[in-house]
Amino acid sequence: MAGWATKIEGHTIPISTPGDYFAYTLREPIGVVGQIIPWNFPLLMAAWKLAPALAAGCTIVLKPAEQTPLSALRLGELIQEAGFPDGVVNIVPGFGETAGAALAAHPDVDKIAFTGSTEVGKLIVHAAAGNLKKVTLELGGKSPNIVLKDSDLDRAIKGAAHAIFFNHGQCCCAGSRLYVEQEVFDRVVEGVAEEAKKIRLGPGFDPATQMGPLVSEEQLQRVSGYIEAGLADGAKPLCGAKRYGDQGYFVEPTVLVNVRQDMKVVQEEIFGPVVTAMPIKELDEIPPVANDTIYGLAAGIWTRDISKAHRLAQQLRAGTVYINCYNVFDAALPFGGYKQSGWGREMGHEVLENYTELKSVCIGL
Ligand code: NAI
Ligand code: MG
Repeated sequence: MAGWATKIEGHTIPISTPGDYFAYTLREPIGVVGQIIPWNFPLLMAAWKLAPALAAGCTIVLKPAEQTPLSALRLGELIQEAGFPDGVVNIVPGFGETAGAALAAHPDVDKIAFTGSTEVGKLIVHAAAGNLKKVTLELGGKSPNIVLKDSDLDRAIKGAAHAIFFNHGQCCCAGSRLYVEQEVFDRVVEGVAEEAKKIRLGPGFDPATQMGPLVSEEQLQRVSGYIEAGLADGAKPLCGAKRYGDQGYFVEPTVLVNVRQDMKVVQEEIFGPVVTAMPIKELDEIPPVANDTIYGLAAGIWTRDISKAHRLAQQLRAGTVYINCYNVFDAALPFGGYKQSGWGREMGHEVLENYTELKSVCIGL
C-alpha cells in the first residue's frame, strides 16, 4: 500500500463540447475516515484498513472491536514512535453501540469503512445518512465450496477442511457450505470429517494447539445454537457438533450432512467451525444452489476441468472465486462482497477509490 502513495493519479480527458477546453481529473483524499473493525483478525484488520487510507492521504479514527482492542493500541504506539504527525491515526476503543455508532453518525467524518456483521452493516448505512458520508462495507458470508468428481480429491478434501476450519471458521469468507458431486460425496465428506478429527484443540498459548477457543461466550452460544438448530432440523453430524471440554469456549470441528438448502444452518452465517455438506447430481444444479443465500463474498471450486472451472467462476455471484485453493489473500487482489456481503472492495488498486474523491477540472482556453 505504501507504493500507491506516489501513484494516485488523474487523467487528461479530451472533451467533445464545442469550444477550446483542457480538462483533467484529480484524485484527492476523501478526508476524515472512520474505520470500525471486528475481532477475528485484530491486527490484520487494522492493517487492511489503515494502510490504504494512509496511502491516499486521509486521517483516521479507528475503532477496534471491544473483544480485541490491545493489538490496535500497541500498533498506535508504534505509529507514534515511527513519527506520524499527531492526529493522523487515532485509535479509539469502545463498544459498538456507543463508540462505533457515534463514529458512524458523526457529522465531521467524511467516510466510514466497516468490517463485521451484515446486521451492523445495515445500522452503519442508516447512521451514515445524516451527512451522507461515503460508506464501504465488508460483511458476512456463507460461501459455497464446490468439489467436482474430476478434482484431485486428496487436495480438495484438505482444501475443504482448511476452507472452513481455518481460524475456527471465524472468517467472513469461510467455505461453510460444501457441495460435492454425488459419485464422490461419501469419500469427500468422510475425508473432511477425518481432517476435522485430527485438529488438536487447546489453549492458544500452547504451541501444539491447532485450534483455540472461540472468541467469547456469546460466540460459543451463537455457534452452539446453530448446531442445535441444525440437528433439530434433521442434520446428521459426521463429527463434532458439541462443545469440547467444559472450560473455555471450545467447539469441536463439525461436519453436518443430511441437510437441506432451506435449513438455517445452510442459509445463515455461523462464524464457527461448522460446515454443511450436500450432494450435487447435475452440474447445472450448482449455480442456483451455490448462489442461494443473501451473501456473495467468496466461493471455492475444485476441479481439473478448465472449462467447468471458468464457466462456474462466471456463474457464481461472489466477490472472490478460488479454484483449487482457498483463503488466499494478497494486497494486490481485490476482496469484497456481492449482495449482502458488502459494498466496495478492499485491497488492489480499487481500494484507493474508497479513500479518494475524484475532481474534474475544466479550463476554457
Ligand atoms: P459486530 O458486527 O457487532 O461487530 C463488529 C464491529 O462493529 C465491532 O468493532 C463492534 O464494536 C462494531 N459495532 C457493533 N455494533 C455497532 C453499531 N451499532 N454501530 C457501529 N459499530 C458497531 O459483530 P459481533 O457482534 O462481534 O459478531 C456477531 C456476528 O457477526 C458473528 O457471529 C459473525 O456471524 C458476524 N461477524 C462477521 C464478521 C466478518 O468479518 N464478516 C466479523 C465479525 C462478526
Ligand atoms: Mg454485535
